[in-house]
Amino acid sequence: MKEKIIIFDTTLRDGEQSPGAALTVKEKVEIARQLARLRVDVIEAGFPVSSPAQFEAVQQIAETVPVTVAALARARAADIAAAARALANAAQPRIHTFIGTSDFHILGKFADARYGRTLKEKRHTVRQMAVDAIQQARSYVADVEFSAEDAGRTPLPFLAEIVQAAIEAGATTINIPDTTGYTLPDEFAEIIRYLREQVKGIEQVVLSVHCHDDLGLAVANSLAAIQAGARQVECTINGIGERAGNASLEEIVMAIKVRGNRLPFYTDVNTQEIYNTSRMVSTFTGFVVQPNKAIVGRNAFAHESGIHQDGMLKNRNTYEIMHPADVGVPESRIVLGRHSGRHGLKARLIQLGYELSEKDLDHIYQRFLELADRKKEIYDEDLRSLMGDEIQSTAQALVLERLQVVVGTDSIPTASVRLKIADAPCEESATGDGPVDAIFKAIDRATGYSTEVVDYQVRSVTAGRQAQGEVFIRVRVQQQEVHGRGVSTDILEASARAYLQALNHFLHHQQVPTHSVEV
Ligand code: KIV
Ligand code: ZN
Repeated sequence: MKEKIIIFDTTLRDGEQSPGAALTVKEKVEIARQLARLRVDVIEAGFPVSSPAQFEAVQQIAETVPVTVAALARARAADIAAAARALANAAQPRIHTFIGTSDFHILGKFADARYGRTLKEKRHTVRQMAVDAIQQARSYVADVEFSAEDAGRTPLPFLAEIVQAAIEAGATTINIPDTTGYTLPDEFAEIIRYLREQVKGIEQVVLSVHCHDDLGLAVANSLAAIQAGARQVECTINGIGERAGNASLEEIVMAIKVRGNRLPFYTDVNTQEIYNTSRMVSTFTGFVVQPNKAIVGRNAFAHESGIHQDGMLKNRNTYEIMHPADVGVPESRIVLGRHSGRHGLKARLIQLGYELSEKDLDHIYQRFLELADRKKEIYDEDLRSLMGDEIQSTAQALVLERLQVVVGTDSIPTASVRLKIADAPCEESATGDGPVDAIFKAIDRATGYSTEVVDYQVRSVTAGRQAQGEVFIRVRVQQQEVHGRGVSTDILEASARAYLQALNHFLHHQQVPTHSVEV
């Protein structure tokens, strides 16, 4: 009999904590819808107390998707109350509260004497804070998860003690995070076994793990943990997350599916939605998936050498342990052209994970026709870009209305922009070291911002001369790193759009710095 592994997706919380990945509420809701189609069990939607945008995202996601929605909260009364408010309309709300339990965390975060003078006293306070938080959370919702942050480096007797207290206080899921990605698979499995042996009542709760990838072991540690008795895995699409990221959802789910002979488990994930979800998360976060990334990288199913190609032609199983279709990688890429109708476009967008109202469809169809005028064949990747652009560009404070660039071997690059800034027109020009620099300077003049460009990448959306150019940019504005993405058949226009989108992301998250909450 196979046992179920609960898939807890934290792309929208831990994943979004990757520097420069901050998403708008609209982008998060769209990703949450796709996660629901992927059939994850739990969506961690954000950290409501940390900013109004985080609060609103959790609230909207809770109202939109019919799966369990978790909200993160430190073990503090105000955090728990904010999480409960944000989840008020959720069909299945979960409050996820956490506190640091390793000596590093306790001595670092609770250094103040009001938490106790000795490590022993401070541990006592931390345990009590956890108990209070769980009891408060239980007064709002029945489903409460407790995480012992940095459990991977927490002395085992204290870990068992706080887990025991958390269960007695009413936690229904106990999460064991390897917050710093420090442990090795056999060591992490031992922690899980130890807790199962030492903690009374642990069989009544769901034991969960949350592994970071600092040593590249997040997936291996998660799999070792489920073999040792964990039944929930926390993970993210494309493995994004703090620092080196989290365990990648697609790798865990496919390892369980492909290696059923050694892993007697199953998940409810619809693996054929993996590729769509990966592409959507990459588009919205601006984190390009490396070509050799397992499961979803461009080369994951490409066979280059003659020997491999020959083997594949004779029998796919020679070099393939799963088929591209199992994870939703499309077989054929050409889809539509300028004579394709609205229905054809709508049907293809639904297959790619986008559901549209008739009004939105009218708008996207016009943009599709404009693109089809410039480009004969429209590929799936073009449609994903178009949709990404559509979702990202609505309700933005800064809008590009016109761009003119003069460039040549003998002239100084000059750019003129006309923007709409909060509905008022504004025109500026500037010269620069190159055309892109001139565009960014003209935009800076118009908006009054000064930025540092941290990363700038151009890639073609598809192959061929007519391909659209996609620009990914990361900029630092007032010490905050934000990303932007722009698409056009003209890469200078794509650059301007990407830069403006980064500034729009900055404005969206400006109210309260999202990730600077003291923990
Ligand atoms: O890595 C971590 O410990 C976390 C907790 C908040 C679960 O993200
Ligand atoms: Zn984490």
